[in-house]
Amino acid sequence: MRSSCGEEIVTLTMMRTVSNRALPLVARYVSVLLAAFLVYYIVRDPLNIAVSNISLLTKGSLYTAGSGGDRDGISIIGGKEGSNGAEAYKGPADAEPAIQEKNVQKPMKEEVDVVKYVKKYKPEPIPSTPIGDHFPWLTHSNSPPPVRENNLPPNPHVEEATPLFIGFTRNWPLLLQCVSSYIAAGWPPGDIYVVENTGTFHANQHNELELQNPFFLNYTALGILGVHVLETPTLLSFAQLQNFFLHTALERGWPFFWWSHMDVLVLSDEEVKKNDRDHDWDHDPYATIYERCVGLLRYLNGPDMPPWATHFFEYDHLALVNRDAYLDVGAWDTHIPYYASDCDMYLRLHWEGYWQPQSEAGLVFDVSAVLDDIMALFRVPGGARYV
Ligand SMILES: *[C@@H]1O[C@H](CO)[C@@H](O)[C@H](O)[C@H]1NC(C)=O
Ligand SMILES: *[C@@H]1O[C@H](CO)[C@@H](O)[C@H](O)[C@H]1NC(C)=O
Repeated sequence: MRSSCGEEIVTLTMMRTVSNRALPLVARYVSVLLAAFLVYYIVRDPLNIAVSNISLLTKGSLYTAGSGGDRDGISIIGGKEGSNGAEAYKGPADAEPAIQEKNVQKPMKEEVDVVKYVKKYKPEPIPSTPIGDHFPWLTHSNSPPPVRENNLPPNPHVEEATPLFIGFTRNWPLLLQCVSSYIAAGWPPGDIYVVENTGTFHANQHNELELQNPFFLNYTALGILGVHVLETPTLLSFAQLQNFFLHTALERGWPFFWWSHMDVLVLSDEEVKKNDRDHDWDHDPYATIYERCVGLLRYLNGPDMPPWATHFFEYDHLALVNRDAYLDVGAWDTHIPYYASDCDMYLRLHWEGYWQPQSEAGLVFDVSAVLDDIMALFRVPGGARYV
């Protein structure tokens, strides 16, 4: 108690002694304060508007333009004429009932629903024309198309196994064209193995997909053509599919096999007469792509030939594989993605000393479109009349 009394006395004495000096100072402060008030009252309104606009922008869409000034965020924050023009200035005390009133009028959730977002839709896609039947002759005749006499495969079959793998994931018309072109060009249909790699399990076998489905494959049609279908257990990558080919060749005792892309169209070259060693030119005008492929296999396996792994016909659009060479270097590396895995494979075979030559055996085209009428490959005019 004593000490606080003493402090009071000291303060009073100090005030008295400094008052003379402080008077102009105080006056200056007061004038500054007045100026501040004046400025405050002049700039308050624009300031309020600006602030309320900010608040409208941020939480704002909650307070949409309603009828009452109390709905107008602005009045709650600082006071301004409400949007209905009525005097809406409310102090903090008035703001409280205003909020309550609003809540009574409309539940918060409904106000959220009032927000109008304008939906922007993408343009309607141009409808694609449905996939049609590109081989009406096959659909309606239920029998294999006739192969031209010179392109008929040797009968009896050559002594070598000559399997041809064609991997399929999607685009049935393209596959049907590819398979048909091999048959028309002279490959024995029974040696063609379409490897269904759609990842759709037994859906195609059970006729559960239809033509418009990208993964559709027609077992019936391939059966009529005399072609086999193998099914991969799940959707395989390129390298995995190649290993599946090797596995199948191993299981079935095929030391060599061919594989081809499903988007190629092949023709036997009817003009070229060279490069065919064991061809009977007297009775046969040209060697089919199949006959030349078999001739090349015999040539590569002939005496005094270096060990070989691959023979390319038109890059790898059609390729002949020496199974054991591939297995010798560890087969395909399934950890390398698509376009690099073949570079890796062929390079490892090369490093191991395997020969990988290339030559032609016929005309192999990489195509992106399907003939309207695949029967044209068998040169039967008017096949489309069955449509
Ligand atoms: C603030 O909002 C009012 C009323 O919504 C509007 O008239 C004014 O132009 C806005 N001002 C700014 C600076 O955005
Ligand atoms: C499958 O092929 C057969 C024989 O060509 C045909 O009759 C059938 O209509 C085809 N199925 C579909 C779904 O296209």
